[in-house]
Amino acid sequence: MRRFTICLTAASIALAAAVAVAQAPAKIATLQDHAALMKSNAQANGALNKTLGSGAFADARMQVTTLRQNLTTLQTFWMEQKNADAVKVVKEGLGRLDALDKMLGAPAPDQMAAQAAAKEFGGNTCGACHKMLREGDAQTGFRFQAGKSPF
Ligand code: HEC
Repeated sequence: MRRFTICLTAASIALAAAVAVAQAPAKIATLQDHAALMKSNAQANGALNKTLGSGAFADARMQVTTLRQNLTTLQTFWMEQKNADAVKVVKEGLGRLDALDKMLGAPAPDQMAAQAAAKEFGGNTCGACHKMLREGDAQTGFRFQAGKSPF
């Protein structure tokens, strides 16, 4: 019984940790929400590339689902902010995710093509918006470029 309890506790701690890391807000109201969504983006995008590399296509699709949710949240946010350039990048990214999801849903997905598509998504969606709105680096921290923060 004791052992069972310990197992259960360990399992629930592991689960809570997994949820805490992957959790992105469904709506962006604060800079903290925005940063939390970006952390989820980074995690899902990293896992996407990893799962594609090992040919775990079903797992890769789960990451696509997370990224699509996050981008949908971003789309709503930037539409409310009336930032057409940001909306455009995000919309295009959603199109790329749809195409990638379709590839991964095929009976025998083309691994090389899927990896190339994921790489393009990283550059043309994540990278494009960062160039437009983000500054900083991993050492000093990331932030909005001067005058570009809606918060
Ligand atoms: C529409 C614009 C936009 C898109 C698309 C976007 N980002 Fe960001 N991202 C930002 C901005 C602005 C910041 C700086 C503010 C912040 O950290 O919240 C940022 C910050 C980040 C950070 C640093 C978070 C922190 O504070 O530690 C990471 C990591 C990140 N983005 C990853 C990604 C990944 C991966 C993608 C693509 C899956 C992505 N982002 C897509 C605008 C975007």
